[in-house]
Amino acid sequence: MQPAVYLFVLCLIAESWSLKCWDCRSDSDPKCADPFDNSTVPIKDCRQEPDLPHLPGVRPTMCRKIRQKVHGQWRYFRSCAYLGQPGIAGDERFCLMRTGTYNIFMEYCTCNSKDGCNTGALPSLNWPTLLFVSGLAIAVTWSSSFVL
Ligand SMILES: *[C@@H]1O[C@H](CO)[C@@H](O)[C@H](O)[C@H]1NC(C)=O
Repeated sequence: MQPAVYLFVLCLIAESWSLKCWDCRSDSDPKCADPFDNSTVPIKDCRQEPDLPHLPGVRPTMCRKIRQKVHGQWRYFRSCAYLGQPGIAGDERFCLMRTGTYNIFMEYCTCNSKDGCNTGALPSLNWPTLLFVSGLAIAVTWSSSFVL
């Protein structure tokens, strides 16, 4: 290949790794909560984020938004995300939900479709997608029951 072509391909790869995410937590900035107000919240380039101490070499490739209800109080966190897949079954409109003990509820959303995608402004759901994803969830549960 020509050096110019190499350079072009390298730029494409570098570009695909560039992602910016909103970075805040609602306990220090109330604007981090929903509805999200980006006026004072910094946006971070995930390429500039350090490796996590417990995940050496793992780079953040997504944005995330976490919504937690602990003892009746909502907390929001937005940042770059290191692990997992964007969205659920590739659909960023869906988030992981967890209910724990002690009145704890957590919603975990990931995305990488565009810079600052962790606003949490959900586009309206449509029924075919909802049916498809719930069908997929059922199929996954059903097939994993044979593995266990
Ligand atoms: C911040 O929010 C406003 C209003 O929703 C939007 O027009 C603007 O593009 C956002 N800024 C960035 C950097 O995304």
